[in-house]
Amino acid sequence: ATMLLLNGPNLNLLGKREPGHYGSLTLTEIEARLTNLANQQQHNLLCFQSNSEGALVDRIHQAMDEQVDFILINPGAYTHTSIAVRDALLGVAIPFIEIHLSNVYRREAFRHHSYLSDIADGVILGLGALGYELALYAAIQKLNKHDR
Ligand code: DQA
Repeated sequence: ATMLLLNGPNLNLLGKREPGHYGSLTLTEIEARLTNLANQQQHNLLCFQSNSEGALVDRIHQAMDEQVDFILINPGAYTHTSIAVRDALLGVAIPFIEIHLSNVYRREAFRHHSYLSDIADGVILGLGALGYELALYAAIQKLNKHDR
């Protein structure tokens, strides 16, 4: 199956900024690790990061043409603001897991609301880069069940 890993604004700075919140791995390292894990299980992983809301919406639309089976998404700050990203995910009707490196509930109140959580298959947060791996494992489990 084909999965898509989406990362939103400022996640290109991973490993370089606020390591206390977000850890020391870079996004390139996380993407490489997840791609390997997916490939080991005969799945494909596409990766995309953008700081722009419209580019993320366009990438979600493109996923429908590419027959992406599952999306893993850390929408960054758009989590808390973007009805457009929500509508894109609803529009393509591809199941997804929402990921956050930090425990947003331990942070500012404006991070406590997500426009995605109520339509997500699952949400993983507060576990740093490990959360991306756990999300990938969960997605693969779901996809393998579907294939049978
Ligand atoms: C984040 C949490 C968001 O509140 C923040 O805006 C981010 C990263 C996380 O991974 O913990 O950019 O999504």
